[in-house]
Amino acid sequence: MAKSKSFSCSACKASFSKWSGRCEGCGEWNSISQTAALSTGPGKKSLGNTRGTAIELSDLATKETPPPRTLCGVGELDRVLGGGLVAGSAILVGGDPGIGKSTLLLQAAAQFAHSGVKTIYVSGEEATAQVRMRAQRLGLAQAPVKLAAETNLRDILTTLEAEKPQLVIIDSIQTMWVDTVDSAPGSVSQVRSAAHELTSFAKRNNVSIVMVGHVTKDGQIAGPRVVEHMVDTVLYFEGERGHQFRILRAVKNRFGPADEIGVFEMTGRGLAEVTNPSALFLSERGEPSPGSVVFAGIEGTRPVLVEMQALVAPSPHSQPRRTVVGWDGGRLAMILAVLEARCGIPFAGLDVYLNVAGGMKISEPAADLAVAAALLSAREDTALPADTAIFGEISLSGALRPAPQTENRLKEAQKLGFTAAIAPSGGKSVSIKGIGLRRVTDLTGFVGDFFGAG
Ligand code: TYD
Ligand code: MG
Repeated sequence: MAKSKSFSCSACKASFSKWSGRCEGCGEWNSISQTAALSTGPGKKSLGNTRGTAIELSDLATKETPPPRTLCGVGELDRVLGGGLVAGSAILVGGDPGIGKSTLLLQAAAQFAHSGVKTIYVSGEEATAQVRMRAQRLGLAQAPVKLAAETNLRDILTTLEAEKPQLVIIDSIQTMWVDTVDSAPGSVSQVRSAAHELTSFAKRNNVSIVMVGHVTKDGQIAGPRVVEHMVDTVLYFEGERGHQFRILRAVKNRFGPADEIGVFEMTGRGLAEVTNPSALFLSERGEPSPGSVVFAGIEGTRPVLVEMQALVAPSPHSQPRRTVVGWDGGRLAMILAVLEARCGIPFAGLDVYLNVAGGMKISEPAADLAVAAALLSAREDTALPADTAIFGEISLSGALRPAPQTENRLKEAQKLGFTAAIAPSGGKSVSIKGIGLRRVTDLTGFVGDFFGAG
């Protein structure tokens, strides 16, 4: 394509096709100069003039039947999937090695198989005998699940085409390799092309495919991150090694709400579902003690009560420690800064430790007030009244913002025997029988009310 030259006047911005000494627009002399034509973009890579076939366009109003869903009977898993497994969906289950992904998926495969879904479990990490042994230990030996130990994706897809299953578990995506890609299994390009092949196979053949992906603690190299955008649903299986609780969290779901969690307990006979996580998380709570506060949170569509524990102690170091487990370190720094700047309560020279009991990870901003309360309670060495649940977001000005779903939080607290709650004012007025609700407007007021300072 020939570039068309263009000239413009620097005084009046009029444009011309050729240069001249005097601008015809404003009469200015010597003001016309050549301007660069707009780039037409990379020429060689454009589609050119070759026509494709026309695609059919439809409208939004056409009635679509919702995709069929199958429930496996494990309530915690069905809910995280958004109400059962959608046919033809691609699901990624990520998590640390050894957290229990294979155990969870073997149990899920057995459940789905029992409810009539034709299921194949392909292990690239363990031999079939090992998977069978685990199934026997879990009491699942009778489940009609077909097994294979294979890593060559071409062979796997050929088998799947012949077998026509409805659900396939691939454990794990890092062990699969595509023979058209040169790099080693587990490398970014192998993981990406294997996941792409599997996802398009799922869509073409209406087979649900669950892929396991290991997350490495540092950097997540070649981990599930590179396939997150390809799949319909991304679930993360989290938990602390020392704890028996495991949390399955939906971080992306095209067929249901994200942020939904399912809670499991690792037992000697596999994973058991925990239908009332609040009761479990609070069951280890002892006598009311300084630094311990109960946060009424919401995870997905469900209220969950957890205990926030703080410890504040004089620091022997010039740079005091700030250690957080289960919450965001940056957010803790923010709360400490607001307490210092708005309420005049310094934490300089003090080590601060914050822990969410039970191995739970909290990301809700509504936990701010509970954290502030735990920090103050630990610093002042005064326990807050027992049976009080707290929630609310703190803004940098020290004001408290109302949290969503206040009513659900209070109902859950009431169900677990709490008699009082502290929440930000504003928002809808709510009253729950049996719960004395204290509304506070700002952090200074809260400190004054409960710690007699501020
Ligand atoms: P696994 O499912 O192999 O983890 P992943 O596939 O995520 O790497 O689970 C491994 C751990 O689970 C192992 O350390 C032992 C524990 N476990 C139990 O506690 N109970 C059981 O019944 C099973 C099967 C495993
Ligand atoms: Mg495994």
